[in-house]
Amino acid sequence: MKGKKIVLGVTGGIAAYKAPLIVRLLKAQGADVRCVMTHNACEFVTALTLQTVSKNKVYTETFEKQGEWNPEHIALSDWGDIMLVAPATANCIGKYAAGVADDLLTTTLLAFGGKIVFAPAMNDKMYNNPIVQRNIRVLKDCGVEFIEPIVGELACGAVGQGKMEEPEKIVERIKNIL
Ligand SMILES: Cc1cc2nc3c(=O)[nH]c(=O)nc-3n(C[C@H](O)[C@H](O)[C@H](O)COP(=O)(O)O)c2cc1C
Repeated sequence: MKGKKIVLGVTGGIAAYKAPLIVRLLKAQGADVRCVMTHNACEFVTALTLQTVSKNKVYTETFEKQGEWNPEHIALSDWGDIMLVAPATANCIGKYAAGVADDLLTTTLLAFGGKIVFAPAMNDKMYNNPIVQRNIRVLKDCGVEFIEPIVGELACGAVGQGKMEEPEKIVERIKNIL
C-alpha cells in the first residue's frame, strides 16, 4: 500500500467515529489519505480529527470560495488510486446508485475513474430493505466493490446485520484490492 493515494468518503452514520482509525491504519501501511465528508458526517466526527490523523486537508464543500483553481471533486477524483466510502449510509448508496451528485462526496464518486469500495453501515432493517439491496446490486453491476456489514449489536440496540466491518478488516480488503 506504500505510496498509494486513497480518497476516504465518510457519511453520516454512527460508525463515522471509526473513520479516524481507518485513516490511521491506512497511513500505517504507507498510504496517503484524503478525506471527503458529507455535512451529516460532520455531526458524528469532526473534520479537525480527520485532518489531524490524515495530515491532509479535509474536504466538505462543493463550492469553495478560495483555494485551488480547479474544482475539488475533479482534483480529488484525479488524485486517488482508490476510493473507499466508510461508513456508507443507505442514503449515500441510494444517491450514488441513482447518479445523484448533490454534495462533494457524491460528485467526487461520479467523477472517479478508479476502483470504488463501499463499507455500508446501518440498522439491519434498513440494510435488508429491498430498495437498499436493489441499490447495492445496481452498484455491484457497475463494478463497485462492497465490504459487507457484519452481524452485531447496532447503535439502536438491535442485533442484526448492519454493523460496519471492523477497520482492520476493511484495510486488509483495500490492501488486497490494491
Ligand atoms: C444517531 C443517528 C445515527 C444514524 N446512523 C445511521 C447509520 O448507521 N446508517 C445510515 O444509513 N443512516 C444513519 N443515520 C441516518 C443518516 O444520518 C441520514 O440518512 C442522513 O441523511 C445521511 O446523510 P449522508 O449520507 O449525506 O451522510 C443516522 C442518524 C442518526 C440521527
